[in-house]
Amino acid sequence: MTGSPNSHPLSFLKAITLQSSESDIEIKVVIPLLRILGYGDGDWRSQARFAKIKLDFLVHPNELFTTCLPYLVIEVKAANKNIDSAVWQINNYMRQSRATLGLLTNGYKFRLLYNHQGQVVTIFNYSQTEFISQFNLPYKILCKETCLKVGNAVLQSQNNINLQFLNHIAKAFASEDMFGLFKKKPNSDGDSELRPESNAVNSQKRKSMIITVFNNKGGVGKTTTTINLAAALSKLGKRVLLIDIDAQANLSMGLGIDPLNDVEFAGKKDVVDLLINPRTLLKDTVLSKKWDDVQIDIIPSHIRLSEKESDINSLINRDLVLAQKLNNAKYFYGDNYDFVLIDPPPSFGVVNNISLMASSAILIPTQLAPYPIRALEYVVKRAKAVGESRPDPLPILGIAVSMYDRNASKFNLSMTEQIEQILSREGVGEGVNLFPDKTWIPRLNIVAAATSLKKEYPLCYAEFDSDLNARDKESAQDAFSCYMELAKHTVEVTEGI
Ligand SMILES: Nc1ncnc2c1ncn2[C@@H]1O[C@H](COP(=O)(O)OP(=O)(O)OP(=O)(O)O)[C@@H](O)[C@H]1O
Ligand SMILES: [Mg+2]
Repeated sequence: MTGSPNSHPLSFLKAITLQSSESDIEIKVVIPLLRILGYGDGDWRSQARFAKIKLDFLVHPNELFTTCLPYLVIEVKAANKNIDSAVWQINNYMRQSRATLGLLTNGYKFRLLYNHQGQVVTIFNYSQTEFISQFNLPYKILCKETCLKVGNAVLQSQNNINLQFLNHIAKAFASEDMFGLFKKKPNSDGDSELRPESNAVNSQKRKSMIITVFNNKGGVGKTTTTINLAAALSKLGKRVLLIDIDAQANLSMGLGIDPLNDVEFAGKKDVVDLLINPRTLLKDTVLSKKWDDVQIDIIPSHIRLSEKESDINSLINRDLVLAQKLNNAKYFYGDNYDFVLIDPPPSFGVVNNISLMASSAILIPTQLAPYPIRALEYVVKRAKAVGESRPDPLPILGIAVSMYDRNASKFNLSMTEQIEQILSREGVGEGVNLFPDKTWIPRLNIVAAATSLKKEYPLCYAEFDSDLNARDKESAQDAFSCYMELAKHTVEVTEGI
C-alpha cells in the first residue's frame, strides 16, 4: 500500500482543503475510505442512533449484525477543527456503543482508538501524510476482512461459553450445587444469603489493602486525592471502599451524598454509628455509587462526629474500634475490597489514631509549598510512632504531590529538594519516597469544580456533564490521567506489602 502519494489509492485525500466542512469530509474522505477498506453500502450507517447518542458512522456488517457488538465507530470533524479536543466525545461513544474501534478524523489527522472493556486507548494519531504512507497498518486493522475475522472469533467464543454454561446447568441439576457461580455465605444474623462469587480467586488470595490518606496539615488535597484515586483504582478493575471519618464530611458530599437527606433522614447508618454502636456492622453503613464504569462503595460521615468525640474517648479499646469492625467484616464476607481508603480529618486526634490503627499502610499527600513540607517531618514521625505501638508495622507508601504549579518548575525542584532533605535527616524518612512526578496532580480549576456543589463526581465523569465545555472536559481528562498514574503507582508499591 505504500508508494508515491499521487498513485496511492488514498490520493483523494489531497483534494480536501481547510475550508472543507464536516459533510465534505464525510463524503470525500470517509465514504471512499470505507470502500477501499472493503465495506459495501449495507455494512455501515451514517448518523446512526445508538441509545442516546448519534454516531457519524457505525460500521457493522450485516453478517455480524444480530449477535456482535459494533466493530468501528467514526466521528468526523470539519477540516479546520482540532480533533484532539473531541477525544472525550469518541471515548464516550465507544464506551456507550461498546464498539471495538473508533476513528476520529478531520481529513488532515486520523486518530484510531481501541476499546478494551471500557478502557479506551489510542493506537495511532497520524497526520494525513503518515496515514497515506503507512496505510498498510490502518488497512490491516480496519478492513472488512479483519472485522469479520474478529466478529467470528467473538461469536465462536460466545458459542463455547454458552455450551459450557449449558453443561454447568445440566451438572447443577444433577448435583444440586448451583454450578458454582453463587455460593452461600453467612450474614451477620447467622442466616445464609446468596452472593455472587466475583473475583473469588483474588478475594481469597489477597487481603484488602487498607490505606489512610494521612496528613495533619489541612487543605493539602487529602479528600480530593482520595476521591479520584478511588475512581482511578476502580477503572483499573479494583474493588474500592471509601471511609469518610472526618466530621467535615467533604468526601461524602464530594461524591454526592448529603449526610442529612441521604443518610440521617433516610434512616441509614454512617461512620458515627459504626464507631460508637458495637452492634453496627460495616455492611450496615455502606452506600454504593456508580458513575459510568466506576463503582465505589462509601461509608459516609456526619457533622455529629465532632460532638461524639467524648463518647468515642470512653470506648473500651477505642483505638481499635474500626480495625475490629473491618476485621469482623472480613470473617463474614472475605476480603471483598482490594482497596479501602480512609479519609481522616486534619489533626492528630483520636479519630486519626483510629484510622491509622485500622490501616495496613499510609499515603501522605502534600503540596509543593513551604508549610506543608515543613509539616512532613511530624507526619512521618507520627506515622512511625503509631506503627511501633502495634504488632504489625505501618508502612508509608510514599509522598504524593497534589496541586502543584506546572509553570513553576524551578520552584518545584527546590521544594522536592527540601522534601528529600527532610526525609534524609536521621531518624525521619528511612524507606519513605516521594512519588515520581508523573503521579503528581497539577493545580487545575476543574479539579476543584468537580467536587463542588451540584457537581459531585470523580473527575473521570466530567465528560458526561453537559454543563461543561470541551476545554473543561479536556482539562478534567488531563487531571484524571495523572490520578490514573497515581493509582498505577499505588498498586505497584502495595504489591510487596
Ligand atoms: N489539583 C487541584 N487543583 C485545584 N484545586 C484543588 C486540587 N486538589 C484539591 N483542590 C481544592 O483544594 C481544596 C482543598 O482540598 P481537599 O479538601 O481535598 O483538602 P484536604 O486535605 O482534604 O482538606 P482538609 O484538611 O480540610 O480535610 C478544595 O477546595 C479542593 O477542591
Ligand atoms: Mg479533607
